[in-house]
Amino acid sequence: MYVCICNALRESQIRELAVERPADSAKEIYAVLGVDPDCGTCLYYAQDVIDAERAKLAAPVELVSL
Ligand code: FES
Repeated sequence: MYVCICNALRESQIRELAVERPADSAKEIYAVLGVDPDCGTCLYYAQDVIDAERAKLAAPVELVSL
């Protein structure tokens, strides 16, 4: 699925960099991918994707006893 139509950025690209670059904003991740936002309508959704991916890392791991 595309997050940014103007720059043809896929959700998978954003998710991967959200983990690799945990301090970067959506705009900074776009810059790493070599693009700048054009219309900017995607930035809120891109940030939601980034936040969701980072939240997965912060979620506690459930331990199961055997
Ligand atoms: S859709 Fe991302 S800049 Fe336009």
